[in-house]
Amino acid sequence: MKKLNTQVVIIGSGPAGLLLGQLLYKAGIEHVLLEQRSAEYVAARIRAGILEQVSVDLLHLAGVDQHLKQQGLPHSGIEILSHGTKYRIDLSALTQGKQVTVYGQTEVTKDLMQARQQEQLSSFYEAQNVQIHDFDNAPKVTFDYQGEQYQIDCEFIAGCDGYHGVSRASIPQERIQTFEKVYPFGWLGLLADVPPVADELIYVQSERGFALCSMRSNTRSRYYLQVPLTDKVENWSDEQFWEELKRRLDPESREKLVTGASLEKSIAPLRSFVTEPMRLGKLFLAGDAAHIVPPTGAKGLNLAASDIAYLASALIEYYQHGSEQGIEQYSEKCLQRVWKAERFSWWMTNLLHDFEGDTAFEKKLKQAELNYVLGSEAGQATLAENYVGLPCEVEHLQQLFAEGNCQKAS
Ligand code: APR
Ligand code: PHB
Repeated sequence: MKKLNTQVVIIGSGPAGLLLGQLLYKAGIEHVLLEQRSAEYVAARIRAGILEQVSVDLLHLAGVDQHLKQQGLPHSGIEILSHGTKYRIDLSALTQGKQVTVYGQTEVTKDLMQARQQEQLSSFYEAQNVQIHDFDNAPKVTFDYQGEQYQIDCEFIAGCDGYHGVSRASIPQERIQTFEKVYPFGWLGLLADVPPVADELIYVQSERGFALCSMRSNTRSRYYLQVPLTDKVENWSDEQFWEELKRRLDPESREKLVTGASLEKSIAPLRSFVTEPMRLGKLFLAGDAAHIVPPTGAKGLNLAASDIAYLASALIEYYQHGSEQGIEQYSEKCLQRVWKAERFSWWMTNLLHDFEGDTAFEKKLKQAELNYVLGSEAGQATLAENYVGLPCEVEHLQQLFAEGNCQKAS
């Protein structure tokens, strides 16, 4: 068995693990990253694409925002199409100038991986049988890599290994509580090299179900359709997808829609899920390992990023000032923000999707609520405030970075 040691072992090379790695590296904290998949697989995964300002600020702090600055598209509004009528939510006007940035999570991942490679940070891709040991006292992680067994002794473990990862699964059930809601439908997504139908995202509520017109750039579009959970991607030819999307759009958008061959097509189920607490001893859970949101509010990646802001702050405070305060408060601070984003994503999902089981009364109430939100400045402001992202202590992290580098491990 090969033995290594480091300060922090990060499990998972999604945006959460990669961003943490980069911030720790910048702060002079040693870490090793373990990922079960190949680097090529991780870099090719198609995911969402809306960044809150907090996420943009964190990527800047991590020094990985060069492409983002060049290619990210700032959006100051979104559109909501409700039964044929379009409403614009002026995000910036309603939030004192805040906006979101359209930039694919795939690109975020690639940028972070490239920076990691440039700095030659210690990474084990295709690490198999990753196991966590003694996270309360003397944490270590074992795994198999290229036919050899490894053990890494460390001071902390960051479980950034997504919903199906080993980190949460290693915690005895009686020490965590989980909260879950599964929705009775999924999203069928299609990516194509066609110009977006509009300059801004369109969230569509229609009698045929929800749809979303999104984009990755001025030449690449991402569209989604609400489909039954039982549906299969093989049931949908590209032509059928475009036809159904057109049926859910208003006449003007239908006219403008440019169709083309799909680069990717997949169905994702919708789920809300939270684990409490998010820290047990020296094991931290972050991102999808701790919580899942339905994609309607575009919060998944952004929540992963804000967890990492709290976690990076906590670890820097510990190594820089010997303070355990951030570590002690990590779970509570994250969960405060997580539950607000859970609420928002659940609310947007309820408001815009067609729920088969709803009674006529419930349908009327939901329509009235949407009409209220769209017709009231206060209602729109609530939506906008949540959509651009609630505060997270990114300034605190900026301050810690400004104070100078951390001590290296002794
Ligand atoms: N050992 C090592 N790595 C693992 C293991 C394991 N046992 N299990 C999972 N992983 C890896 C996965 O292969 C994946 O690359 O952990 C990584 C987790 O990454 P993500 O799923 O992208 O999760 P996260 O970094 O928290 O990002 C959250 O990504 O999934 C979207 O909707 C989500 O937008 C959100 C964001
Ligand atoms: C996307 O572009 O993939 C996207 C955008 C907004 C959402 C969800 C997904 O709410």
